[in-house]
Amino acid sequence: MEYSTQRMVMYPHLNAAGILFGGQAFSWVDEDAIIFAANLLETNKIATVKMSALEFKSAANIGDILISGVELIRVGTTSITVKCELRNKTTNKIIVQVDEVVIVALDYNKKPTKHKLAKN
Ligand SMILES: CC(C)(COP(=O)(O)OP(=O)(O)OC[C@H]1O[C@@H](n2cnc3c(N)ncnc32)[C@H](O)[C@@H]1OP(=O)(O)O)[C@@H](O)C(=O)NCCC(=O)NCCS
Repeated sequence: MEYSTQRMVMYPHLNAAGILFGGQAFSWVDEDAIIFAANLLETNKIATVKMSALEFKSAANIGDILISGVELIRVGTTSITVKCELRNKTTNKIIVQVDEVVIVALDYNKKPTKHKLAKN
């Protein structure tokens, strides 16, 4: 797992219960997966086609610093699949885990195209 980004939970990131809003966590996970894939495939012409269930393991609170991890788990012809997580940097507890994010390389017509890691 490659840990790159750190973020602090701020007031705009909270839900009505005063903990990290799930939609915000979802957005961060998608962004981290896309940046990881863009670096690996050396293109920003990519799109998320599927995200498996997002599992919220523990709450994050105002002021918490979160670190995000992404790991390559499958290489296809036009797609790659990665696993993502957000952890509390202080406690190391997992906040959110997503087992599979599938990202597809696109051509200039926004159709799937072979990426640079494809074997054939
Ligand atoms: C991404 C998109 C172009 C793919 O088109 P498609 O016709 O479904 O493509 P294909 O069926 O040829 O599949 C392309 C690749 O994605 C994979 N894929 C497609 N749907 C999938 C799914 N539901 N689950 C897992 N993998 C999937 C295929 O296995 C294939 O991978 P491979 O070439 O490595 O074997 C199209 O679905 C799309 O435009 N979706 C919207 C993307 C988007 O707006 N995302 C949100 C913002 S990033």
